[in-house]
Amino acid sequence: MTPGQPPERLGARSLDPHLQRYAARATGMTASEVRALFAVASRPEVVSLAGGMPNLAALPLDFLSEQVASIITDDGLTALQYGSAHGVPQLREQICEVMALEGVTGHPDDLVVTVGSQMALDLVTRIFCDPGDIVLAEGPSYVGALGTFASYQADVRHVAMDEHGLVPEALRAALGAAAQAGRRVKFLYTIPNFQNPAGVTMAVSRRAEVLDICARHDVLVIEDNPYGLLGFDGQIYPALRSMDADNVIYLGSFSKTFASGLRVGWALAPHAVREKLVLAAESASLCPPTLNQLIVSRYLATHDWKGQIKSFQSMYRERRDALLSGLEQHMPAGCTWTRPDGGFFVWMTVPEGVDTKAMQPRAVTARVAYVPGTGFYADGFGSRQMRLSFCYPPPERISEGVRRLAGVLTEEIELLNTFGPSTSRSLSGPQTPTPDTA
Ligand SMILES: Cc1ncc(COP(=O)(O)O)c(C=O)c1O
Repeated sequence: MTPGQPPERLGARSLDPHLQRYAARATGMTASEVRALFAVASRPEVVSLAGGMPNLAALPLDFLSEQVASIITDDGLTALQYGSAHGVPQLREQICEVMALEGVTGHPDDLVVTVGSQMALDLVTRIFCDPGDIVLAEGPSYVGALGTFASYQADVRHVAMDEHGLVPEALRAALGAAAQAGRRVKFLYTIPNFQNPAGVTMAVSRRAEVLDICARHDVLVIEDNPYGLLGFDGQIYPALRSMDADNVIYLGSFSKTFASGLRVGWALAPHAVREKLVLAAESASLCPPTLNQLIVSRYLATHDWKGQIKSFQSMYRERRDALLSGLEQHMPAGCTWTRPDGGFFVWMTVPEGVDTKAMQPRAVTARVAYVPGTGFYADGFGSRQMRLSFCYPPPERISEGVRRLAGVLTEEIELLNTFGPSTSRSLSGPQTPTPDTA
């Protein structure tokens, strides 16, 4: 090596000199579409309808800073110390009260506090999935879950949704196909409320049926519910877990209803699974951060957290309305989209021939960002879809973003009508309409 020569010049043949050393499971770890977009989408001139960052502006920061100071003053030696992998007992009890709003009657002993629900997703996949095991997930599904499933080399099969969420008939068909192929399905991963990315909610009338189908096929249900309390009309849907305590693992989070940076989430498991979950949590992180758990616990005990959630609901409702009315006003014919009654996301389908991934650089040039649909499928679907999030920018920026996006799409459709699909337009996935929410 010539002194001072940058190391990347030496490894010119391969960008990553460690490529041959990685375990097979690392092959499935690739940057998500959302992450790749972060850098461009965060430029101030770009209206980002891409990220799913909660808007924390309404939090009572002065009050919180007093509370954090008093936790350190009164209880600093506990707050700054290791804790149990299971989580702080008082917080576990309070979380059970939060879940009671959705009809869940779990015991604090069966609840494991995790570093966000993302860690809970990792733990359940770790304890249940061997490489090649089938995991069923809605099509489309949450990018972070698909990344976790890929990193454990699970084989993700998507199950269709419509505007009422997961379609029970499609679930039966997916389970039947796996059984016929002699394959084991380990679990169904579902986001029943205000789904990420589709924005749809599983109809209450379907919930018992979905649970019944899974129980009959001996398939566990992982219910991921970070948005459940963010319904815009104040409605709270009964959790799947409230209908079946033996076969559902419920994942919850304070990221969307309080503060995402504290990284406090949880898993409520059937009693028999709880111990394995705690052991897996111990090996992943020893314990969740004690200080952060005490902050959440103090917040729940001293602040009007339900009132705070109401103010989040009305803030997100206003943003949702801005997005939907912009879409109605500006989108060219042939575009369709979902109409969420909670959460952060709208899922849009564009006319045949338009590839949302190929179009993305043109959108960014026009100073608007979205996430192309292919990132939300494990199998290449989604090239005619995009996720539009309304959680972060103020309503007037959302309206402007939609206007810009409609301009890009209109031009794209005109080009398509004049010249037909370009090669790049047809590269990123099948053009077949997706069996999803459009
Ligand atoms: C459906 C879903 N599950 C889990 C998560 C992860 O949340 P947390 O911040 O609790 O890790 C997210 C975050 O966006 C999500 O949308």
